[in-house]
Amino acid sequence: MVGRLQGKNAIITGAGGGIGLQTAILMLREGASVLMTDVKASALEKAFETAKTHAPDRTGKVDRRVLDVTKESDVEEAVHALDAWGGIDVIFNNAGIMHPKDGDAEEVDDAVWDLTQNINVKGVWYGPKHAVRSLRKHKKTRGRIINTASMVALVGAATPQLAYTASKGAVLALTRELAIVHAREGFRFNSLCPAPLNTPMLQDFLGDDQAKRFRREVHFPTGRFGEAIEQAQAVIFLASDESSFVNATDFVVDGGLTKAYVTPEGPSTQPPQNIG
Ligand SMILES: NC(=O)c1ccc[n+]([C@@H]2O[C@H](COP(=O)([O-])OP(=O)(O)OC[C@H]3O[C@@H](n4cnc5c(N)ncnc54)[C@H](O)[C@@H]3O)[C@@H](O)[C@H]2O)c1
Repeated sequence: MVGRLQGKNAIITGAGGGIGLQTAILMLREGASVLMTDVKASALEKAFETAKTHAPDRTGKVDRRVLDVTKESDVEEAVHALDAWGGIDVIFNNAGIMHPKDGDAEEVDDAVWDLTQNINVKGVWYGPKHAVRSLRKHKKTRGRIINTASMVALVGAATPQLAYTASKGAVLALTRELAIVHAREGFRFNSLCPAPLNTPMLQDFLGDDQAKRFRREVHFPTGRFGEAIEQAQAVIFLASDESSFVNATDFVVDGGLTKAYVTPEGPSTQPPQNIG
């Protein structure tokens, strides 16, 4: 059976775990060649091995590269590296941070603000910049760019992370504009808006604090946090031809959270298992 991403060449940033790793595995299973990238070399190496193990029947290539999304030359070189495979088709700009010292307007300081914007916004700008150049160079008539934002860019939260929220709002805005600019070249841009997830990014922050956890969990209609694999499934759709008329969206994958007022009582639904 032909994979949904057969023959496509993809770069994933922030592939050292969470959404990025799950997406790498699904992309490989769908026939893509994938360059996994992350700033953390050890996490990336582990993720690379996991991806290979869990996509044993892959037909595409898989490689990894340590890359800091705030360094333009790193991003440019990664995109160039895919020339050897025939040029980039898909880039998933997914790397991001949520700083533990983020907070409300008074709490957040300049250093946390600048670092967050640097990684979450500037780092997302470099991906499309070099992907578009490469798509044009290779005379491609289709390109798929998916940028990870967050549902906190759509709804306000009384548990503030102002720098993070502002950065994700910027991702929505820049993605939307690029989608319109490049629409007639066949290059599609969509933002992924995950709800809070069961990944280390959030779960390490919540730890064993049940009150802190419940304050967030109660807003989920399904009674549970999202799983990385549920985001990865959406990325596969956005990267494939199945979404050929889906462009400039804030693609929300949140179990209904952003549409809920009062949520049901009773046991939560069973989450799917992540791979690996
Ligand atoms: N976890 C959540 O609840 C949640 C909710 C909404 C949105 N998101 C977003 O989803 C994306 C992926 O997060 P995740 O939940 O998989 O968490 P994660 O922490 O597992 O993944 C983020 C990855 O980005 C990498 N990274 C950080 N700075 C980098 C840099 N400068 N250059 C390259 N890589 C860098 C990290 O090393 C990490 O592997 C992030 O953009 C995050 O903001 C997460």
